[in-house]
Amino acid sequence: MALAIGNWSALNAMQGMDDAEFARWADLLERRTGVVVPPARKAFLVTAVRGRMRETGQTRFDDYFREIHKMPEGAIEWITLVDRLTVHETHFFRHPPSFDLIANEWLPRMVSSGSQTALHAWSVGCATGEEAYTLAMVLDRHISAVRDARVYFGVTATDVSQPALAVGRAGLYPRSKFNEIPGDYRSSYVDEIDEDTFAIRESLRKRVGFAQFNLLDVARAPLKRLDLIYCQNVLIYFARERRRDLLNSLAGLLKPGGMLVLGAGEVTSFAHPALSRVPHRQALAFLRNR
Ligand SMILES: C[S@@+](CC[C@H](N)C(=O)[O-])C[C@H]1O[C@@H](n2cnc3c(N)ncnc32)[C@H](O)[C@@H]1O
Repeated sequence: MALAIGNWSALNAMQGMDDAEFARWADLLERRTGVVVPPARKAFLVTAVRGRMRETGQTRFDDYFREIHKMPEGAIEWITLVDRLTVHETHFFRHPPSFDLIANEWLPRMVSSGSQTALHAWSVGCATGEEAYTLAMVLDRHISAVRDARVYFGVTATDVSQPALAVGRAGLYPRSKFNEIPGDYRSSYVDEIDEDTFAIRESLRKRVGFAQFNLLDVARAPLKRLDLIYCQNVLIYFARERRRDLLNSLAGLLKPGGMLVLGAGEVTSFAHPALSRVPHRQALAFLRNR
């Protein structure tokens, strides 16, 4: 009973977040990740910060803000907080037209020439890994469908959130996601573990490497000469001006013939001198000129 009263009073003591405090937290998130939280989504930010404060026994936003800036403890705490402040919704085969474009148009051209011996794809903002594993399934299936193709492929999957990456690395997913994967892919690439869980098969899992990477550091990305960059549902959280700079940097990481796939409708009027827009009604993609 005493504990319940203690919790109750701590909860009551927790302040509301005024607009100045909200601006301070939103600014911190934008400076560190690029993610913009508009005032209309204040409730989301407040719930996320409050939830974490409750777990760490904090009751005042300004005390917690100071904690976040202490080194090294603040940096460790930030790893958890940034996960709460970012949206990780994702699905296997989330945007089928983009995967069809890769499988049926881009990939056959890349591998049929015989000159391509390896393909490197990047899932940017991969969340819990579904997008990266989808890319791996599509590449694996369609490379092996091209006669005489001897092409090794790998997918690098990055995100700012460590907890999300840990889920991806484990490659274990709840049954509710099973039907997101088309039946013929399921039979080749996943195993049912029990009635609640399925696993990505080891042979596919080893093609996907997960690493923490902040997209704001893209100008210093350790990745170069990529064949495929897949970036969907990430830039929508960023300010318009920032999106353009990031896209220019992504374009610079592509190999000639490489393709940048974005979320349909996520960027309008983007053009780059080294890129050509792929004519497609449902997918938004650009090819690096040879
Ligand atoms: C809505 S999910 C999209 C997942 C996947 N790309 C998809 O389309 O299904 C957005 C992801 O972007 C990540 N993210 C946000 N800011 C980022 C940044 N600065 N660097 C890397 N990842 C970031 C979030 O952590 C989150 O996992």
